[in-house]
Amino acid sequence: MRTQVGIVGAGPAGLLLSHLLARQGIDSVVLECRSRAYVEQRVRAGVLEHPTVELLRETGLAARLDQQGLAHEGISLRFDGGDHRIDFADLVGRGIVVYGQQEVVKDLIAARLADGADIRFDVSDVALDGITDAPVIGFVDADGKRRELACDVIAGCDGFHGISRAAVPHTVHDRQYPFAWLGILAKAAPTHHELVYANHERGFSLYSMRSPEVTRLYLQVPPDTDAADWSEAQIWDELAVRLAAEGFVLNEGPLIEKGVTGMRSFVAEPMRHGRLFLAGDAAHIVPPTGAKGMNLAIADVRVLADALAEFLRDHDESGIDSYSRTCLRRVWRAEHFSWWMTSMLHNVDAADTDSFTRQLQLSQLRYTVSSRAAATSLAENYVGLPHQAAL
Ligand code: APR
Ligand code: PHB
Repeated sequence: MRTQVGIVGAGPAGLLLSHLLARQGIDSVVLECRSRAYVEQRVRAGVLEHPTVELLRETGLAARLDQQGLAHEGISLRFDGGDHRIDFADLVGRGIVVYGQQEVVKDLIAARLADGADIRFDVSDVALDGITDAPVIGFVDADGKRRELACDVIAGCDGFHGISRAAVPHTVHDRQYPFAWLGILAKAAPTHHELVYANHERGFSLYSMRSPEVTRLYLQVPPDTDAADWSEAQIWDELAVRLAAEGFVLNEGPLIEKGVTGMRSFVAEPMRHGRLFLAGDAAHIVPPTGAKGMNLAIADVRVLADALAEFLRDHDESGIDSYSRTCLRRVWRAEHFSWWMTSMLHNVDAADTDSFTRQLQLSQLRYTVSSRAAATSLAENYVGLPHQAAL
């Protein structure tokens, strides 16, 4: 088998890269170790920043997004018993769209298959070879046959637990947090039209949604928490305490999903070795408080698709040479923003709520909601700095 770009992983990064390359006349094959049903149902975050929505629209991927996505023009920060709205529309004239990541994945798979793309699910034993000059991806196909895919370049879009990162000699920047998120999806109509980020002395809580029928909620929990240890009643009680505000009512409903998400900041530099390019979670992780994970993956592959097209079509290496440097500027902006939101909103010192750290958090929150300059900084990062911005 032969293709121009061998793509490992059918998450948002790998699938969108394949789509963007096809639009520039470049062939690719996508290899995914999970089943199609698995990747289409995996529950992840759901905030699309403005530049992501624009890119999906410009490249013909937004038909369902425009029908079903929920456009939001702000978020609330809740602390000290008060609710404070950050008005994105007023501050930066742009907003976000709430649309589940697995919906983006479904739309991408449908678009690629309609275009006759070669996406192989359920492959195993993926191995990368010849990275510095003549790349070959070995794998076992869904039919059990061992195959080799020769390609001009490899895109490692195989997420944080994939195999590609190990093939790039890199330096790691890593920060782990002493808490995790217990997340639920509930069949309950959202009672509030925007996301609420709540700093409470019992721990952080986030109010989000997926549709007019489904609410998405999170609680800060200790990192070793087993989701099974929390009963439905306990979860609703804790959410009610942490999200409490005047006039706020929480609709309860049966749980559709329950799980624990770890919190981590991680960057592997550089994102390229020879003819292997890392994109998305394969190269970097952000804690979900900034809602940046999928948006960063999408920004990476936009840069990569253009760089690879110039290289493969025009033999121009300038884009592939600057790929890692260009992406890492945006990655570090998102790393800072995600770390900042996480630090401001979580209970980082459960033992002592009058601590120095707690007072700094409250001061930062009060400043963020009362100063137009500070609120604008949050807003422009949250809705997403333009892909062309000098960062
Ligand atoms: N071979 C083939 N596929 C692999 C392998 C492998 N050895 N290892 C992992 N994969 C697949 C995973 O099953 C997954 O479908 O690679 C895909 C990686 O997709 P994501 O984890 O979704 O990563 P990415 O496309 O970079 O998207 C980043 O996803 O993790 C979330 O919240 C994060 O929103 C962010 C986004
Ligand atoms: C979600 O809806 O799942 C969500 C929203 C915002 C975040 C993280 C997750 O910051």
